Amino acid sequence: MTKINNTISLESYWMPFTANRQFKANPRILSAAKGMYYTDIDGNKVVDGTAGLWCVNAGHGRDEITNAVQHQLATLDYAPGFQMSHPIVHEFSNRLVEMAPGGKDSGLNHVFFANSGSEADDTALKIAIAYQRAIGQGTRTHLVGREKGYHGVGFGGISVGGLVNNRRVFPQIPASHMRHTLNIEKNAFTRGLPQHGAELADDLERIVALNGAETIAAVIVEPMSGSAGVILPPVGYLQRLREITRKYGILLIFDEVITGFGRLGTPFAVDYFGVVPDMVTCAKGLTNGSVPMAAVFVQEDIYKALMQGPENQIELFHGYTYSGHPVACAAGLATMDIYKREGLLTRGKELEKYWEDALFSLKGLPNVIDIRTIGLVGGVELAPRDGAAGQRGYEIFVDCFKNGALVRQTGDIIALSPPLIVEKDQIDVIVSKLADAIKRTK
Ligand SMILES: Cc1ncc(COP(=O)(O)O)c(C=O)c1O
Repeated sequence: MTKINNTISLESYWMPFTANRQFKANPRILSAAKGMYYTDIDGNKVVDGTAGLWCVNAGHGRDEITNAVQHQLATLDYAPGFQMSHPIVHEFSNRLVEMAPGGKDSGLNHVFFANSGSEADDTALKIAIAYQRAIGQGTRTHLVGREKGYHGVGFGGISVGGLVNNRRVFPQIPASHMRHTLNIEKNAFTRGLPQHGAELADDLERIVALNGAETIAAVIVEPMSGSAGVILPPVGYLQRLREITRKYGILLIFDEVITGFGRLGTPFAVDYFGVVPDMVTCAKGLTNGSVPMAAVFVQEDIYKALMQGPENQIELFHGYTYSGHPVACAAGLATMDIYKREGLLTRGKELEKYWEDALFSLKGLPNVIDIRTIGLVGGVELAPRDGAAGQRGYEIFVDCFKNGALVRQTGDIIALSPPLIVEKDQIDVIVSKLADAIKRTK
């Protein structure tokens, strides 16, 4: 069994979403990071084409975040969040509300904290059901997601999620799924948003007709699906979904765990698409990936509806030991300072065209069947090998890493999402390493 430096065994660590035995036989181990680069344990520099896991939006090793975390740990390392609070959690939630998805007048002016995207999504689903009950719609407990959706790995998230491998082994809570919007036949190699597929939002009408609107609490979607391999919403799709949910009194939740904090070239996808939902979940870029934290932005009327009954009564029986953790709040505030000072939440807009052109230069390479880009996100889809789906994608991912670029593989799709500090020459390096890997992989 491989050991790190011949001393540290890899065996005891059960790795998440990893082929453990394959990995441990040939590990890829990162030991340091700064700016746009990782360093692996052999001292090789690896350019980060994925902002870690879609989270390190301001680049690695930011001193401001380190200092804020150190200071907070030394000042107040932890404070209970139940029936107690501490200054920095209020400071941070106020700051977030000022820059809420859709702007500070969007109505998304309350924040519930969690520690991961999965927890934020489950929190939002629970708030939706609790809200419906609070307004006298207690029959509305059914949830709706979408095929190919990813909303983390809690039981709520996998139930509304639409990735078969995350679902097949586990029981789920009642949920229906709208059709996904990936249509390579009609939309392959479209620059910008796909033109075909707005009518897929009408699939919600089918689910309403089947179950009755009075049973449905909420619909959750990623405005842009990342984990399924970069699936963009067709022009007009999200607007239509907003209209239909409104018509039937169904809450709309946007999962912005990936799209939040500048990934699309706007602060949130809400700003990119101009569609304001009832709740928005976020995580990852919230603290630049430095300390686990997630948040749910909630509309004023939802919060108000739950602030009913005797004042000495807990309104929502939900929360985590680490909700609003002071150290995470400190990291988050420092992160927001960096985003603001460096204009990172809109930097993707400036680079969007350059990025798109760079990725579209891969068109015509062997096995490339689609390229999709938006903001600083890119997806390159490859034809699967006969009887070995995902193998080609995996080999390209490994090849890129060996040659100094971290990309993300989902099946036979390579996803790219570099830190928002990326420079044009670094985009060129990432894309050319990917091009070489694609050419080398049969
Ligand atoms: C859209 C979306 N929702 C939820 C999650 C889950 O987040 P976490 O892994 O922090 O639980 C992810 C993670 O990639 C995600 O992309």
